[in-house]
Amino acid sequence: MKWIYSVSLAVSLAMQPAFADDLFGPHPMTEQARDAFVNQLLSKMTLDEKIGQMRLISVGPDTPKSAIRDMIQHGQVGAIFNTVTRQDIRAMQDQVMQLSRLKIPLFFAYDVVHGQRTIFPIPLGLAASWDLDATAEVGRVSAYEAADDGLNMTWAPMVDVSREPRWGRGSEGFGEDTFLSAQMGSSMVKAMQGKSAADRYSIMTSVKHFAAYGAVEGGRDYNTVDMSPQRLFQDYLPPYKASLDAGSGGVMVALNSLNGTPATADSWLLKDILRGDWKFKGITISDHGAIKELIKHGVASDPQDAVRIAMKSGIDMSMSDEYYSKYLPGLVKSGAVSMAEVDDAARHVLNVKYDMGLFNDPYSHLGPKESDPQDTNAESRLHRAEARDVARKSIVLLKNWRETLPLKKDATIALVGPLADSQRDIMGSWSAAGVAKQSIPLLQGVRNAMAGKGTVLYAKGANITDNKGIQDFLNLYEQAVSVDKRSPQELIDEAVAQAKKADVVVAAVGEAQGMAHEASSRSDLVIPESQQKLLAALKATGKPLVIVLMNGRPLTVVKEDQQADAMLETWFSGTEGGNAIADVLFGDYNPSGKLPVSFPRSVGQIPIYYNHLPTGRPYNFAKPNKYTSHYYDAVNGPLYPFGYGLSYTTFTVSPVKMSSRTMPRNGSVEASVTVTNSGKRDGATVVQLYLNDPVASISRPVQELRGFQRIMLKAGESQTVKFKIDVDALKFWNQKMQQVAEPGKFNVMIGLDSVRTQDAQFDYL
Ligand code: NOJ
Repeated sequence: MKWIYSVSLAVSLAMQPAFADDLFGPHPMTEQARDAFVNQLLSKMTLDEKIGQMRLISVGPDTPKSAIRDMIQHGQVGAIFNTVTRQDIRAMQDQVMQLSRLKIPLFFAYDVVHGQRTIFPIPLGLAASWDLDATAEVGRVSAYEAADDGLNMTWAPMVDVSREPRWGRGSEGFGEDTFLSAQMGSSMVKAMQGKSAADRYSIMTSVKHFAAYGAVEGGRDYNTVDMSPQRLFQDYLPPYKASLDAGSGGVMVALNSLNGTPATADSWLLKDILRGDWKFKGITISDHGAIKELIKHGVASDPQDAVRIAMKSGIDMSMSDEYYSKYLPGLVKSGAVSMAEVDDAARHVLNVKYDMGLFNDPYSHLGPKESDPQDTNAESRLHRAEARDVARKSIVLLKNWRETLPLKKDATIALVGPLADSQRDIMGSWSAAGVAKQSIPLLQGVRNAMAGKGTVLYAKGANITDNKGIQDFLNLYEQAVSVDKRSPQELIDEAVAQAKKADVVVAAVGEAQGMAHEASSRSDLVIPESQQKLLAALKATGKPLVIVLMNGRPLTVVKEDQQADAMLETWFSGTEGGNAIADVLFGDYNPSGKLPVSFPRSVGQIPIYYNHLPTGRPYNFAKPNKYTSHYYDAVNGPLYPFGYGLSYTTFTVSPVKMSSRTMPRNGSVEASVTVTNSGKRDGATVVQLYLNDPVASISRPVQELRGFQRIMLKAGESQTVKFKIDVDALKFWNQKMQQVAEPGKFNVMIGLDSVRTQDAQFDYL
């Protein structure tokens, strides 16, 4: 019998220094068994040991391995992040088992945001696939590889809705739309956690950053967020809620303040909403150093105050600050923090360890030592086919004048640009344990595809940027951007010479991965000047110009759109990016991606998003009028709208058929269209359903995504696509913050992007 089931044994064990032999299961994976186990365990723990469980640290210059060993020995650490090999993880878990009094296993976490060893497209690119199966594939493979490295938790998915392209972290999220982000986030959670986070190849997720981090003012990272409760509940909170409903065991708390209260100090958010209304039972983790930052936020007077506030607000585990360990003992002694509060936080940590199966087997994600890979970066550990499959689906065809694409494999192609042969950039930011040398840059992908049939003429053409300050910024922590010492003109001349010899020019331009990352906010969204000059020189050759964009945010590419004969948005497409882009360039894959964000024409248009509210003076594109809501000095509207993306074939969408003109109270109706592939190639597309509530008690968005289906149609084939619309799709938060569906007329819009739609109506009774 295990000790938790035996009161007398538990009493006798209380007097012993250690009882690890009885600690480990198998334990039943039920909430009831877990609660009993954890309560028993808590009753054996000293205050310091409980506080130790609440500390999460990373091995680094400030906390070298020797210091961590000491902490482990004294029960002063609960979890580790940024350690990513079985050998290193095993060594630490061994120390727990051999040196600590209670032998409570550590859990190991990492930023597995778009892959672990195999890197998939950045999440913004994944969102462009609008493909929940692809999302699940990314989740499963990432979890498999992470668990195979011994990890138990990932700091993902990031579901911060963002309408702010200046913010560098939009690359980590799923774009500007609430519904799409919620679908992607919950699919990712389900795939990563699998049936149970305790399974050998599952990991627990920690959805982030709670809440509304994507709305930082001016897109400046870590900045303030201020928004109405309606907008918060309607547009920003649902993706977190959906990911938690999908079972995410963790929540990472945001660094920003929301309406004046830093999230780390927000008991309304963390207790009333998260634990109260949403019934969240998992663990809350502060972001890096966030407890300390409460002082700079101006809500805590000193370290003790910061700790007291974080504890009272519901932060269970502190990431990378020593404040809990240093100041909680005193605060408990003085009564400022109660033992019950410490118990609650430590309980949440122990609960997730139980759910991770660590009390059944602390080595469950490690296996026997003999099974450790000889070479952590072995080619055989990668999932290249899956990465290529998903990367192809994430690519968006923005322009294809006179069928410039697909290219012929026997052509002479000038492939130029600073991103054409970059293995580091194509992986994107947060590329976890991915190894740049293993990624396929576009140059190699094009060569692979042409297989010697045609000729590739390569030239770098330009540096990412000629701005020394930005070069230094990008190379601050790693030699990420190599700077060619030749003059800008020499680089351009070489590229132009190659272009003149070619049938077609393909220019890979955009951002270095470090330009779309944490702390990488931009005040402008242009392609850097060095590359603009290159494009202008290439255009002047008169050769057909294909622009391949690589970037982690919407860029302002009005000029490039005019210069290009064809343009592809490829984001940062991952380990197999070069092959995937080549698949699209040569037509081995017919592009099907759709933009998950609006592309502004200029930075001055921001915020620009498709689901905005109406105004009293809407701008009419067909009949512009002075006293309407618009800019007089620019073309209005986005360059490319939300949901947009072309294909090598053409599709037509029939008028919408409604199952009924009325929806009964709390009932549903069905809207359907027939989509036909009217072109000559097989292809996939995404059918999108938008709704609008034209008259309501508060203004409602001009349109909101409420459904989508990705379909594959052979040339000439048709398919009827049906959407069930139920009352939940009509609901919104009214002025009194009640979630309601108000009777009246609703507009239905169905199309292959958010602009060109077939429209219908129904009445909600
Ligand atoms: C800070 C980032 O904001 C967060 O997203 C990340 O998970 C942690 N650092 C850990 O790397």
